[in-house]
Amino acid sequence: MAKPLSKAVIPAAGLGTRFLPATKAMPKEMLPVVDKPAIQYVVEEAVDAGLSDVLVVTGRNKTAIDNHFDRVYELESTLEQKGKGEMLRVVNESTALADMHYVRQGDPLGLGHAVLRARMHVGNEPFAVLLGDDIIDARDELLKRMLEVTEAKGATVIALMEVDPSMTHLYGVASVEATDEDDVVKVTGLVEKPEQGSQPSNLAVIGRYVLQPEVFDILEKTPPGKGGEIQLTDALLTLADDDSIAGGVYGVVFRGRRYDTGDKLDYIKAIVQLATDRSDLGPDLRPWLKDFVAGL
Ligand code: G1P
Repeated sequence: MAKPLSKAVIPAAGLGTRFLPATKAMPKEMLPVVDKPAIQYVVEEAVDAGLSDVLVVTGRNKTAIDNHFDRVYELESTLEQKGKGEMLRVVNESTALADMHYVRQGDPLGLGHAVLRARMHVGNEPFAVLLGDDIIDARDELLKRMLEVTEAKGATVIALMEVDPSMTHLYGVASVEATDEDDVVKVTGLVEKPEQGSQPSNLAVIGRYVLQPEVFDILEKTPPGKGGEIQLTDALLTLADDDSIAGGVYGVVFRGRRYDTGDKLDYIKAIVQLATDRSDLGPDLRPWLKDFVAGL
């Protein structure tokens, strides 16, 4: 019988140095993407896939995240008194979204360490990990498909996406074998941020994982890797190397729309892409963008 899957973990303890000074006193996860904080898109994605128990692994300076998913009585009553029903609905949306939990990472020892901090909350169940820098378009299914594959294989499943070879050094990169399903591959090897030219493929790990609980024991024993940090990729390689531990590792190859908000240029692109698609902004933004580009 498949183990139940209801929990999502969102690591959010990073310092956000790429966005200084904006992130001096505000978590990068709260940077708005159009009009919603980046982390809200990620929580919405988890909830859409049926994972309504969300643990955020936070650090110092992150109280704005807890506040965003909590009630804000003063604002609510002001909006109510003024009859601003639509604004009140928008404010309440993030409060009612999910069953939110928080744990602090303490020492910033890497993504693998952040995931290990979820152990007490997750227990002995498979769970999803969603990285906040990647926003997956709500119209393109990824996490639901990964959950399906996890259930079918009883294994760990990671999201992979083809990237330009010049970009592989920014990602975990997988070696894979085909399966009889077009969008599913068996992961045979993984390397964190390979040097240019030494990447085993163009299939990059994008920030979605469905992990078996055995990963915790492996993370406990995983030594610091790339950048002196405990890497989730290294623990996944241990799982991929030995199918007998927890069924091995599979990849779902995503071919949909993904927005990277991890650095300034990609963040700007993500906002423009998402805003042009919005019915309240797109009709005015698109012609303006065309004129703007024509004048460049
Ligand atoms: C992390 C992972 C990396 C993965 C990437 C996806 O790196 O370590 O394997 O490919 O997320 O966004 P980071 O971007 O946090 O350095």
